[in-house]
Amino acid sequence: MKKAVPRNALYAQSGGVSAVINASACGVIETARRHRRQIVGVLTENLIDLSRESAATIRALRYTPAGAFGSARFKLKGLEQNRTEYERLIEVFRAHDIGYFFYNGGNDSMDTALKISQIGQALNYPITCVGVPKTVDNDLPLTDCCPGFGSVAKYIAVSTLEGGLDVASMAKTSTKVFILEVMGRHAGWIAAAGGLAGQGRDQAPHIILFPEIPFEQASFLARVKQCVGDYGYCVIVVSEGAKFADGKFLAEAGTRDAFGHTQLGGVAPVVANLVREHLGYKYHWAVADYLQRAARHIASKVDVEQAYAVGRAAVEYALAGRNAVMPAIIRTASKPYRWKIAPVPLEKVANVEKTVPRHYITADGFGITAAARRYLEPLIAGEDWPPFERGLPKYLRFKGKAVRRRLSTPFTL
Ligand code: F6P
Repeated sequence: MKKAVPRNALYAQSGGVSAVINASACGVIETARRHRRQIVGVLTENLIDLSRESAATIRALRYTPAGAFGSARFKLKGLEQNRTEYERLIEVFRAHDIGYFFYNGGNDSMDTALKISQIGQALNYPITCVGVPKTVDNDLPLTDCCPGFGSVAKYIAVSTLEGGLDVASMAKTSTKVFILEVMGRHAGWIAAAGGLAGQGRDQAPHIILFPEIPFEQASFLARVKQCVGDYGYCVIVVSEGAKFADGKFLAEAGTRDAFGHTQLGGVAPVVANLVREHLGYKYHWAVADYLQRAARHIASKVDVEQAYAVGRAAVEYALAGRNAVMPAIIRTASKPYRWKIAPVPLEKVANVEKTVPRHYITADGFGITAAARRYLEPLIAGEDWPPFERGLPKYLRFKGKAVRRRLSTPFTL
């Protein structure tokens, strides 16, 4: 029997990046190399030939944050609405003999991955497509957590703890309220992680504002006043997606991304203004913004391990002929935390947002419960330090060697 010719594999990163997305890339690439598959990264036909990179370079991806190959927010419409884009994609696949496609992203990217997996059939091109989960927002369903979240959760818990100590030490004569704005879009998972910084009502954070709980001004201000009165200060973690009962965000930047999502951000100063206007306390606010999702220096060891494991599993699934699946993290025990990887169909993941369940939030809506703590704590466990040089993390500055273009027609996004 004639042996099948190994086909190339294509790996791409999509959506907001994280501290460990490159650890998934490392898992994909190292596993594919063991199976002698050549890997390329892609953005239109700007492919990078990873077979020409040294093992040391690929290893360095494991501890380098952000998207080493560049990430994009680019929405593929349905096949009926935009056949040209799909045909172009297949043209690129065909030109480079791509047999496997790994798409590393969040909700929207899993939708794209699903659509691409369907292209093969519709346009008669055999392609095995596997989604690799990643999102700091932690809002993908069917997986215990999403790679990227554990590290952002750790960064926010650490920052809340440290910022809280700072405010507490000077509150008598200076700042009484500190507000930390965190990411997460419509899901309050990152905000919830801030709650890990303290135990009990008197410890920071005293208030968490979740997107899942409609913002109510009077009860919020009353709680701030009570905290300053009873403990001398008040630390607030506010999710960028915090909204009023009518669904309107407390703050939105006024722009939308390619997926039509409202760009969020800027809620901390809105909350600070409320405190100033109604209570007159001295305050400081901070927006963790990209610092939180790029904070590889304080990454969670569990997160790094899971990010690598989903990358490795994605390749194993593809080689086993599993199409249109995503490796999910399945929790088998909480104490001690144990997990395994299992495939879930992309169509069950695409476009579904998993938000924080009500029983993870205290009755007053301002804190996390013991159940939330049980869920969150294992995800921030352990440290995975990057190497340091001259006082700074020694991150990889990936250049990449381009694959020679084979198509004569250009494609503009
Ligand atoms: O989806 C991840 C995320 O980090 C969100 O929490 C945040 O709202 C968004 O990305 C920011 O995206 P961008 O960097 O494209 O503005």
